[in-house]
Amino acid sequence: MNEAANLVTTFGGRFDPFESPPASGLGKVRAPGEASRFGSTSSPNVRRVATIMRLQDRIAVVTGGARGIGFATAQRFIEEGARVVLFDLEEKAVAAAVEKLGELASGHVVDVRESEQVRRAFDTVESSCGPVEILVNNAGITRDAMLHKMDDASFDAVIGVNLRGVFVCGREAATRMRERGRGVILNTSSVVGIYGNVGQTNYAATKAGVIAMTTTWAKELGPRGVRVNAVAPGYTNTEMMQTVPEKVLEILRSKTPLRRLATPQEIAAAFAFLASDDASFINGHVLSVDGGLTL
Ligand SMILES: NC(=O)c1ccc[n+]([C@@H]2O[C@H](COP(=O)([O-])OP(=O)(O)OC[C@H]3O[C@@H](n4cnc5c(N)ncnc54)[C@H](O)[C@@H]3O)[C@@H](O)[C@H]2O)c1
Repeated sequence: MNEAANLVTTFGGRFDPFESPPASGLGKVRAPGEASRFGSTSSPNVRRVATIMRLQDRIAVVTGGARGIGFATAQRFIEEGARVVLFDLEEKAVAAAVEKLGELASGHVVDVRESEQVRRAFDTVESSCGPVEILVNNAGITRDAMLHKMDDASFDAVIGVNLRGVFVCGREAATRMRERGRGVILNTSSVVGIYGNVGQTNYAATKAGVIAMTTTWAKELGPRGVRVNAVAPGYTNTEMMQTVPEKVLEILRSKTPLRRLATPQEIAAAFAFLASDDASFINGHVLSVDGGLTL
């Protein structure tokens, strides 16, 4: 597929760095969440927070941004003034996400495992929009099974997206950012990358590997002006959790001191903080956003 075919939409051909942000982003008040089969994600202790514009005019790539945590992150970044490019697999999902996000979003159909696709997509973004200053490595999959039942294909599939994909996109971004002496790379780990989880040999290995890449890159790239951090979400209300039976969800809620799952927006808020200059001296950190599950 050529670059033009990969490009789902552009920024509408209009971008003025001095222009006001979209009306939807100004002083927007966000609700903490809504009830679903995952249980209520609202809490009397979550106050509504006015969005501030910490990412004004930054250009961010969010992998796996067509839904879930990636979509919520793209939305939050745009609310804070960024222009966001989604890299995701499914053309229709990317187009629908871009449509919802508005004119500060664009998208590419990219498989994060494929170096050449990733390189071409970065080239296109940078030639049409400018230097990518933030990369959120968020694309991820699960193929759960107990160790004795896990086949080679399930193991390799998860390693391919969650580990190789992070490496491929991270390398592409780092090569460009280190030359410019500026940038932020954010990786998505998980609580299970720290503590392990029954039935997730492949997934837990990748999420632990993501932590190792984060700390390694923080050391390599810090001297070149590039910060690298990770977020380790707890169980979060997204499609990835659809296959988890209600009985298990109930156990997860009861093990979490805040007694609920996270909303994708709560994970997005951590990414927005780490991407912003509010985190200007934070490098090589893994920020748990898990309601205290891992205590
Ligand atoms: N949901 C949770 O409870 C949870 C907890 C901890 C960590 N995480 C991590 O957060 C990240 C996002 O999870 P989510 O729950 O939003 O998942 P999700 O399944 O809702 O969304 C994942 C997105 O990644 C995209 N994707 C998958 N393979 C891809 C590839 N090869 N190239 C490009 N895009 C690809 C999918 O199309 C999808 O849009 C993942 O890395 C996941 O491991 C999720």
